[in-house]
Amino acid sequence: VLIIGAGIAGLFAALQLAPLKVTILANGSAESPDGRLNASSAWAQGGIAVAAGDDDRPDIHMADTIAAGAGLVDPETADILTSEANARIAELQDFGVNFDVDQNGALLLGKEAAHSRNRIAHINGDRAGAEIMKALWAAVHATPSIKILSKYKAIELARKAGSIVGAHVVSSIDNDDAVKMILANATMLATGGIGALYETTTNPPSSKGEGLAMAADAGAQFVDVEFVQFHPTAIDLGRDPAPLATEALRGEGAILVDQNGRRFMVDIHPDAELAPRDVVARGITEQIAKGNNIFLDCREAVGKKFPEKFPTVHAACAAGGIDPTLAPIPVAPAAHYHMGGIAVDNRGRTSIGGLWASGEVACTGAHGANRLASNSLLEAIVFAARVADDIYKHRPLTHRSGIGVEVSRWNDGLLVDPELEAELLDRIRRVMTENVGLVRNNQSLLEARYQIEKIAEMGGKLPSISNAALAANLVVEMALRRKESRGGHYRSDFPTPNDALRVREYMTVDRLADGQESEAVTA
Ligand code: SIN
Repeated sequence: VLIIGAGIAGLFAALQLAPLKVTILANGSAESPDGRLNASSAWAQGGIAVAAGDDDRPDIHMADTIAAGAGLVDPETADILTSEANARIAELQDFGVNFDVDQNGALLLGKEAAHSRNRIAHINGDRAGAEIMKALWAAVHATPSIKILSKYKAIELARKAGSIVGAHVVSSIDNDDAVKMILANATMLATGGIGALYETTTNPPSSKGEGLAMAADAGAQFVDVEFVQFHPTAIDLGRDPAPLATEALRGEGAILVDQNGRRFMVDIHPDAELAPRDVVARGITEQIAKGNNIFLDCREAVGKKFPEKFPTVHAACAAGGIDPTLAPIPVAPAAHYHMGGIAVDNRGRTSIGGLWASGEVACTGAHGANRLASNSLLEAIVFAARVADDIYKHRPLTHRSGIGVEVSRWNDGLLVDPELEAELLDRIRRVMTENVGLVRNNQSLLEARYQIEKIAEMGGKLPSISNAALAANLVVEMALRRKESRGGHYRSDFPTPNDALRVREYMTVDRLADGQESEAVTA
C-alpha cells in the first residue's frame, strides 16, 4: 500500500494496516519529531471532538455537526463520524496518546464554538495535534511493516487501465528532474488541505492542494471545493504561517474587542464570540475593513493560567513580544481548513479504482459547508480507519507490474527552478487572497480565473505550480457556479442562502472543461 502524506490520517491508516506492507511518502515530515514540518495535523491546537461527557451523546454531537454545516452535511456520514469517535479515541490512547484526564481517568472536555456540550478532548492544554503526531510517529517507527520515504514527493498519480497503481515522484531534496515511479496495489492520498494557497494561513507551506489536484487530474470526482474555512483568530504579528490562537480560548470566555475595548460580536450574533466560524471571521474582517484593529482579550477569562493551559499560544505570543496575561492578542482571520476535496464514500473510496483518500484532502460530507471545530482530527481518524479496513479487505492480491502503466506527463517536460516556483506560488497566494477569500463575487472570481490561467501557463513545467494552480482553479470554478452564500462560501453578489441550491456539487476536470453541469446531490 502506498500512502501519500504523513499527517494523522496517513499515519493512523498505516498503523491500522500493519502487518500489511505500507510505504508512506512523507516528503520531509519524518525529520521533525512530531511531523511539524509538513503536516497540518501537528499544528492543531483545540483537540478532538467526542461525545464522552455524562450530558452528551453521539446523536447530539451529530446534530451540532449538521447544524454547523449549513445544510450540506451528509447525515449518514455525520452519524458514522460521531458514533465511532469514542472507539477511535481509545485506539489513540492505545498508541500512547495521553489525553488530559481527571483523577478518575475520564477525559477532560473543553468547549468550542457551535458545540452544545463540552466535548473537546485535549492534550497538555493546546498541544493536541503535536502530541498525537509524536505518539503516532513513535508507533510508526516501531512498526516494521511501515517504510518511510521522506525524500520523495508525488507529482502525479500512476494510471493503468483506468485504475491508480501508485504515483510518479521526484526528489524533494535535490534539484533533480528524474521522475521515478512507485507501484502499489492500493494508493491512499492523505496530503492535507489548501490553506497555503492563501497569503494568511494557519497551515504549513505544504498545504497547497497538490493531492487534490493529482486526484482531479487523474479523473477523480471532487465535491464541495468552494467551501474554505477561515479561522477567526490567527495571531496577527506578520508571521507566515500565522500562529493560531485556539478557539478553546473563546470557549473559556475570551472576548473579541477593537482598539477601544469595544466588544463588537455581541451586536452581530446571539452567541457573540462563539458564533459559527464564518460569522466570527466575517465580523472581524468587517471591523478591519473599517480601519479597526482587532484583539482577543484573554486577561479576565484565562489570566495567569495562560502559560500552563495554552502553552503553544503563549509561546507564539511571547515570540512576538506579547504577554497575553497582560495584553490582548492582535488577531485576524486566516485560511484554515478545506471542507471540500476529493469525493469519497464512507469507506474512503474515490471514484477511481485503486485510489482511496482520507483527512483534509478528502471530502466525506461530514463538514458540509462549514466544519464544526475539532471535527477535523476526528474525521481523519474515523475515516482513515475505514480506509485501512477497506484496503485490507479489497486490495488486489497480485503484485502490480509496471507493464502498461501510462508514462508520466512529466517525463520530458519537467523544470527544476525553485526561484520561479516561489515567485509563482506567491502570485497564486495573492490572487486567492484578493479574490477568493472570505468574501467573493462574480467579478473577483473572473479576475482570479484569468490570473490563475496565466500563472498556470508560466508554471506549466513546474509540477508543484501546475498542481497548486489546478487546485486553486477548482475552487474558483466551483465558487463561480455557486450563486448563493452558504457556510464558508460568501458571495457579496448573492449574500443569502438559496434553498434551491442546497446541493453538493460533484464534478470532474473533464466536465468542467466541457462546461457541463455537476452531478448535484441533495445532502
Ligand atoms: C482551534 O483550536 O481553534 C482549531 C480547532 C479546529 O480547527 O478544529
